[in-house]
Amino acid sequence: MKPIHVGLLGIGTVGGGTFAVLARNAEEIARRAGRPIVITAVADKNLERAREVVGTAAGVRITDDAMSVVDDPAIDIVVELIGGYGFAKDAVLRAIANGKHVVTANKALLAVHGNEIFAAAQQKGVMVAFEAAVAGGIPIIKAVREGLTANRIEWIAGIINGTTNYILSTMRDSGRPFADVLADAQALGYAEADPTWDIEGVDAAHKITLLSAIAFGTPVQFEQAHIEGISQLAAEDIRYAEELGYRIKLLGITKRVAGGIELRVHPALVPAKRLIANVEGVMNAVLVKGDAVGATLYYGRGAGAEPTGSAVIADLVDVTRLHTADPEHRVPHLAFRADQLENTPVVPMSEVESAYYLRLRVQDKPGVLADVARILADNAISIEAMIQKNAAQKEPGEGGGEADIILLTHITREQHADAAIARIEELATTVGRVTRLRLESLAS
Ligand code: NDP
Ligand code: HSE
Repeated sequence: MKPIHVGLLGIGTVGGGTFAVLARNAEEIARRAGRPIVITAVADKNLERAREVVGTAAGVRITDDAMSVVDDPAIDIVVELIGGYGFAKDAVLRAIANGKHVVTANKALLAVHGNEIFAAAQQKGVMVAFEAAVAGGIPIIKAVREGLTANRIEWIAGIINGTTNYILSTMRDSGRPFADVLADAQALGYAEADPTWDIEGVDAAHKITLLSAIAFGTPVQFEQAHIEGISQLAAEDIRYAEELGYRIKLLGITKRVAGGIELRVHPALVPAKRLIANVEGVMNAVLVKGDAVGATLYYGRGAGAEPTGSAVIADLVDVTRLHTADPEHRVPHLAFRADQLENTPVVPMSEVESAYYLRLRVQDKPGVLADVARILADNAISIEAMIQKNAAQKEPGEGGGEADIILLTHITREQHADAAIARIEELATTVGRVTRLRLESLAS
C-alpha cells in the first residue's frame, strides 16, 4: 500500500516524541490507518539535534529550511511542532495554500489565529487537526467534537496546563520553592518556550478557548478570555484551603449561561473529595457536562514528548483515513459546520457567578468581624464557613495583634464580591489587600 508522506516541522520535545512513537509502532499504526504513515522530511533550526533524533532511519531528508518541506510536492501532511504565532503561522497558511493537510499541537496559534486558519483550510478543502493542542495525550478534542456530539454541552472545566499543576502539586508535597520546581518542569519538556504563558494562565486560556469553540459552536474568542495565573498564589492560601477541605487548582472553565458563554482561567478552590482535585503533577483532567450524558471525566498526561506525540499521531491516522473523503463529509474543524457557527458573546467577569474564598488580615479587636459580616450582608453575600488564625503578634503594650480571617461565601455575582471587597479594604481595621479566590464546586 502506498505510504502517506509527512513533513515534520520542529523536532524538539513533541516532534521528537512523535518521531519515536511513529517509528516504534509503525506497523500497528499502518494496520489502523490502512497504509504506512512515513516521515520523509524533518525541518529544524537545530540540525544536530534533528540528526540525533532521526538517527539511522532511512529515507528522511533533514533540513533547516522548513518552507522547503512545506513546498515539497511529495509531502501530503505537514506537522507543525515549532510553536508560536510568527513563522508557524506563515508555514501553516502556506501548507494550506499548497493543498496540504496540517496537524499541529500549537494551541497558541489556533486560539489566536484559528478563525483565519480554519477558513483558509475550509476554502482549500484540507484538514487542520489539533488533538495535541489541548491536554497533551488526552483525546479530549475527539471526545467533545465526536463522542459527545449528541449533547448540548453545558460546561467544561479542566486542569489543562501540566506545568502549573506540576508546580502546585510539587510545592505542596515537597515545600520546594517555585523557581526550582519550574526549572524541573522546563527540563522535563512540559513548559512553553516562554514559561510565563504557563504560569500566568495564557496557555490554559488558549486551550479552553479551543474547547469552548467546539463545545458551543462559536468562532475562537481568545481575546475575550479572562486570564489569571498562579504567580500571585500564596502558600498560606494553599494551606488554608486544605484545612477547609479544598485543593487549589488552575482551572480553565467555559460554561453556557443565560447571557452567553463564560470563558475564564484562574486558580480555584475545588472540594478535595472531587476526583479532579486529586489530579497531581503533569496529569491533566477535563470534566465535560452534557445534557444527555451528564458529567464525563477525561484524565491523562497533559504534556511531554510521547503523550503529546500520541495525540499528534492520532490526528495523522485520522487525516490518512479521511483525506480522500469529500471535504463536506469530514468532521468540521470546530465540530459545528462552518456556516453554523454563532457569535455567542462571552459574558464579562462582573456577571460571572461563583462562590468565593476571601482572606483578610485584620486588627484583632472587638467588632471587626461584625463590620466585615455587615458589608457582606449589604452586598447580599452569605457566609458558608469561616476560620480565624492569629497572625503577627504586636509587642506587649502595643495593643492587639493581627489575625487572618478566612471566609467562604455562598454563590454570588462577581460584581457583588468586588464591591464588598472594596469596602472591606477601606475599613481602618483591615491590614493590606483582601485575597480573593473563586470556589468551584464542580458538582454534576
Ligand atoms: P520545542 O522547543 O521543544 O521544539 C520546537 C523545535 O522547533 C525546536 O527544535 C526549535 O529549534 C525548532 N524551531 C523553531 N523555529 C524553527 C523554524 N523556524 N524552523 C525549523 N525549526 C524551528 O517545543 P515543543 O516540542 O515543546 O512544542 C512544540 C509545539 O507543541 C508548541 O506549539 C507547544 O505549545 C506544543 N505543545 C507542547 C507540549 C509539550 O509537552 N512540550 C504539549 C502540547 C503541545 P530551536 O530549539 O533551535 O529553536
Ligand atoms: N506547556 C504546556 C503544559 C504543554 O504545561 O500543559 C502542554 O500543552
